[in-house]
Amino acid sequence: MTKGPRFTPLVDRLPAAVPFVGPETQERERGRPFVARLGANESVFGPSPRAREAMANEAAETWKYGDSLSFDLRTELAAGLGIAPENVLVGEGIDGLLGYLVRLTVAEGDNVVTSLGAYPTFNYHVTGYGGELIKVPYRDDCEDPDALLAAAREHDAKLVYIANPDNPMGSWHSAERIQAMIEAVPDGTLLVLDEAYLEFAPEGTAPAVDPDDPRVIRMRTFSKAYGLAGARVGYAIGAAPLIEAFNKVRNHFGMARISQAGALAAYRDAAYLAEVQEKVAAGRNRIAAIAQANGLSTLPSAANFVAVDCGADGDFARRVLAELIARDIFVRMPFAAPQDRCIRVSVGTEPELDAFEAALPQALAAARG
Ligand SMILES: Cc1ncc(COP(=O)(O)O)c(C=O)c1O
Repeated sequence: MTKGPRFTPLVDRLPAAVPFVGPETQERERGRPFVARLGANESVFGPSPRAREAMANEAAETWKYGDSLSFDLRTELAAGLGIAPENVLVGEGIDGLLGYLVRLTVAEGDNVVTSLGAYPTFNYHVTGYGGELIKVPYRDDCEDPDALLAAAREHDAKLVYIANPDNPMGSWHSAERIQAMIEAVPDGTLLVLDEAYLEFAPEGTAPAVDPDDPRVIRMRTFSKAYGLAGARVGYAIGAAPLIEAFNKVRNHFGMARISQAGALAAYRDAAYLAEVQEKVAAGRNRIAAIAQANGLSTLPSAANFVAVDCGADGDFARRVLAELIARDIFVRMPFAAPQDRCIRVSVGTEPELDAFEAALPQALAAARG
């Protein structure tokens, strides 16, 4: 027998992967920083000052492990939703919770349905546990509930994933449409409703939370509107037996104390959240105005980013993206056609959007050759 680890057959079969080339990696490769960080849908406005203070205070206590139940945060989140703590689970961002969920439900060879070009981290977890991904196309730049459900039915899927609002297009469905989707989930399938951007969406986007409905698990996060992406705090909302099952596999001490304290203080600061929501709405308008001034259109967005339609095919949008990056503007873009005719621009600070405004005409000219 050779020295060293013996990987599982599944891991041996998986292709080598670099899941995510983050902006820091790009900066190291480029040898210089970006001037505008508009590519990761973070909240450039940062966390609430109260969250910062709470995290600073908690720093001295960080020799202790965090509360493995995230009791205080879980209790307040549940109270805010008008449900029991048994229906809420705090975890290491939506990404971490998605990983646990897939581990709980997907065995090798099981089918999972998502949209072609939807949030890729979910796919990464599915593949990592040996699941088979079935991808259905977007319809009119929206994830397509009917097609997702039809595929789930046809392939006896364990999970069907939808983000509402959607990343990367910023599109969204009404609460009624999503509730109808929940009602139509086939037996044996769990709907994963990713609501990472919910706080930026208009009223009437999220169906009422029914904590005992076993057909759906909802995921929310402190990474977006609450400005705590680097703290890694998300939560799942679901029926008590499903939430309880996470205890079989989750990392019980995965939550940092500083993150728990920051999220709790952020959640309590509704006034700051409202401020961020206003700034994001204004930022979306500014991105649309910048695009329009350059002869480009934008898609309506219920998130903290805007898909800018570059007006041609994916190759052209990829050239625009590369030219923006060359001008120190960090942006990303959808990777599936025809959504890849767009670039995706996160709301930035005024100076960052000034930099985008200055770079865009040059990038377009360079991309047109
Ligand atoms: C749709 C969607 N879900 C989840 C996440 C990740 O959330 P978290 O930071 O809580 O892991 C993102 C981040 O970009 C996202 O776009």
